[in-house]
Amino acid sequence: MEVFDALLTRQSVSAKDLGLPAPGAEEREKAFAAALTAPDHGAIRPWRFFTVEGEGLERLGDVFAASARRAGGDDKEAESARGKALRSPLLIVCAAKVNPGHPKVPVVEQVIAAGCATQNLLTAFHALGYGAVLVTGGRAYDAGVKEAFGLGPDDAIVGFLHVGTPTQPQRPRNRPPVAHHVRAWP
Ligand SMILES: Cc1cc2nc3c(=O)[nH]c(=O)nc-3n(C[C@H](O)[C@H](O)[C@H](O)COP(=O)(O)O)c2cc1C
Repeated sequence: MEVFDALLTRQSVSAKDLGLPAPGAEEREKAFAAALTAPDHGAIRPWRFFTVEGEGLERLGDVFAASARRAGGDDKEAESARGKALRSPLLIVCAAKVNPGHPKVPVVEQVIAAGCATQNLLTAFHALGYGAVLVTGGRAYDAGVKEAFGLGPDDAIVGFLHVGTPTQPQRPRNRPPVAHHVRAWP
């Protein structure tokens, strides 16, 4: 796919509409290589990506259910949280391992770098013909979920990226006119 076709046609696909196959090893390598070209002040490489699939999704479901319980959720909420890990064949936890003591680069810039890398990943999977959606919710902000991925409380989960093959045709999204968001200044 041409780069502008990919940029202009990318749209999220609901996780419930993502089935098999998930991207293969070569496709993943390409998509992650694209992610690693993201802008990165200080060359900190703060991004971390964790691929979760198969039995790993069940394990992540346990982690999500425990997180919902810690947040005061009842059985129903815990099961709903568990189900969120199981929606797509591949889930990528996209995170920023930050250095709060960096002399030049504030934490927000480190998280932005990881966000840029995540956007590259989204676009790359789309260009390869797959569907994806980035979601967060309470689980992304829970220290226990972060800990399961070796992240500290100050690190950020940018989002949970569900990836798979769209099972439904996707209606193109309406995008706002460029002129609504761009101004010449002064
Ligand atoms: C950091 C981040 C977190 C998000 N979390 C959620 C979420 O928890 N639930 C959700 O429905 N959409 C979430 N979104 C929005 C979707 O990923 C998606 O962008 C939105 O549904 C619009 O679809 P589009 O990507 O086709 O424009 C999040 C987006 C970002 C950037």
